[in-house]
Amino acid sequence: MTGVRVTDLVKDYTIRNGLKRTRHRAVDHVSLELTPGRTVALVGESGSGKSTIAKILTRMERPTSGTVEVRLDDGTPVTDQARYRREVQMVFQDPFASLNPFHSIEHHIARPLRIHKRTTTAEETRERVREMLERVNLTPAAAIAGRRPHELSGGQRQRVAIARALAPGASVLVADEPVSMLDVSIRLGVLNLLGRLQREDDLAVLYITHDLATARHFSDEITVLYRGRIVERGPADAVILDPHHEYTKLLAAAAPDPERVGAVRDAAPVDRDAIDSGRCYDHFAGEWREAGVPSANAGSAA
Ligand SMILES: Nc1ncnc2c1ncn2[C@@H]1O[C@H](COP(=O)(O)OP(=O)(O)OP(=O)(O)O)[C@@H](O)[C@H]1O
Ligand SMILES: [Mg+2]
Repeated sequence: MTGVRVTDLVKDYTIRNGLKRTRHRAVDHVSLELTPGRTVALVGESGSGKSTIAKILTRMERPTSGTVEVRLDDGTPVTDQARYRREVQMVFQDPFASLNPFHSIEHHIARPLRIHKRTTTAEETRERVREMLERVNLTPAAAIAGRRPHELSGGQRQRVAIARALAPGASVLVADEPVSMLDVSIRLGVLNLLGRLQREDDLAVLYITHDLATARHFSDEITVLYRGRIVERGPADAVILDPHHEYTKLLAAAAPDPERVGAVRDAAPVDRDAIDSGRCYDHFAGEWREAGVPSANAGSAA
C-alpha cells in the first residue's frame, strides 16, 4: 500500500496591502509521515496551516520548499500526475460546496471511475457506482444514484464525497474537517464510516480537525500545529493525556471533557504571544526538539 512522506514543507503566501507586500509563512518546516492503515490527526486552531498542508498534499497548491513523496508498496515513487491524483484523494469540509448541484450523484462517482479508467463499459460503471454507494451506506443505491445533491442531507452528501474520493482506488485520504459542518448528531456516523473504510482498504489517512476528542478516538497519532509549526506529536493517547507543550495544554483545557460534565476547568488567561512555537515535544523520541527548522530525521513518527 501507499505511504506519504512530507519533509520540511514550507509555504509562504504574499499578501498585498495597497502597495506594500508582506510575506506570511503559513507552513513552517513541517515533516510528517502517513502509513497504510494508520490515521494521523492534524489539530490546531484556525489559521494554523492545516488546510494549506492538505492542499499541498493533494497538489492543489505548490510548496515554497520541501517535498511530498508518495511511494507504492514496493518503494516505487509516484511521479506521474494522474497516478498521484488517483492515489491521494481529499474529502472537503463543506459537503454543500463540494458537489455540483447540476449533476446527479451517479455522475459524481462515475466521473472519477472513467477518468482513472477503473471501468470500461457503461454497465460496469453503473454497477461500480452502486457498489460504492452501498459501501458508504447510501441505500437503496439505485434511487440515490439518480438524485441531485440538493435532494440529500448534509451527512448523505458527505458520504457521496467519501465514495467519490475512494472510487478511483485511492490509498491516501486527506479529510479536512470532514464533519465540522454537519449536525452534531450525525458526525459520529460519518467518522465511523471513515474508520471502517480505512480498515477495509488499509488507507493512510490524514484527519484534520479542531476537535481533540474525535482526534483521540479516531487517530493513532496526533500532530499539533501552531502558527504553521508542529509543536507536539505522538501517539493519540499520550498527546491527550500527557500534553507537554503549552499550546497543546491550552487546546486540551478548551476541549469539553465528558468525564467532568458541569465542572469548570481552570482557564487562566493566557498570553498567546508568549507561547513558544520554537519547540516541539516528540512523544516518540521522548524529547523536545526545535520546531520550524529543517529537521534532520523527517517523519520520525513512523
Ligand atoms: N491563498 C492564500 N493567500 C494568502 N494567505 C493565505 C492563503 N491561504 C491561506 N492563507 C493564510 O495561511 C494561514 C493558514 O491558513 P489555513 O487555511 O491553512 O489554516 P487552517 O489551519 O486550515 O484554518 P481553519 O481551521 O480556519 O480552516 C492563514 O493565516 C491564512 O490566512
Ligand atoms: Mg482549514
